[in-house]
Amino acid sequence: MLTAYDAPTAGLIDDAGIDIALVGDSVGNTQLGYDSTLPVTVDEIASRTAAVARATERALVVADMPFLSFGADIADGIENCGRMLKEADADAVKLECGPHTTELTRRLTDLGVPVQAHLGLTPQRENETGLYRQGTDEGSAGRILDLAREHQAAGAFSLVLEHVPANLAETVTEELSIPTIGIGAGPHCDGQVLVVDEVIGLSERTAPFSKRFGDVRGEMEDAIGAYADAVESGAFPGDEHSHYEDGLGDTY
Ligand code: KIV
Repeated sequence: MLTAYDAPTAGLIDDAGIDIALVGDSVGNTQLGYDSTLPVTVDEIASRTAAVARATERALVVADMPFLSFGADIADGIENCGRMLKEADADAVKLECGPHTTELTRRLTDLGVPVQAHLGLTPQRENETGLYRQGTDEGSAGRILDLAREHQAAGAFSLVLEHVPANLAETVTEELSIPTIGIGAGPHCDGQVLVVDEVIGLSERTAPFSKRFGDVRGEMEDAIGAYADAVESGAFPGDEHSHYEDGLGDTY
């Protein structure tokens, strides 16, 4: 699984054979210029999800439900999640989970909205937990395992485990029959997910558990700088990019 927030990237993810394109609320940090994921709106995720779905033939498209778009009220949560399937052509939704999402997961599953659960570090709670590793003591590890079991029983079709000790992720993976997908959770999960801007090397910062596999930022700096220089020096546009016609009408 890899995050995707736009059509060109989603097409590349699809072509690479990656199973799931996650329209993460990380779009808030990576693309929308917010300091956290908290300001991301349902409309922003819906618009990005629709773009990703249009470019994807094979990969499952999962819309990540933003902060407070679910959890306070079951009916509102169902309506917001339903929009992702009805209007944005998502295949499933992801919920950052806690005790408040078990019943919602059950209701959504009953209604035909597949739910991917997300436990461990859930950045929408960053004001409460910070962005630190979770499940590091017996009590909190046990709560994550219990919530994982509860969400599986409620119908979740897979579980994202973020920033937890590898041995906890291993235990959860062994205990559950649904697939686990890890990010900063070690090698024992059934799958892995990262934020695409970090993978391609577009973002300035990279999470400690992430890895850059490219230098798109460097490529963009070079191309943008070269364009600016060429316009300033008059080297662009040259004759090959310029057309002259006798009349004014037909210029292409
Ligand atoms: O929003 C996101 O990108 C995510 C992944 C980190 C799993 O939730």
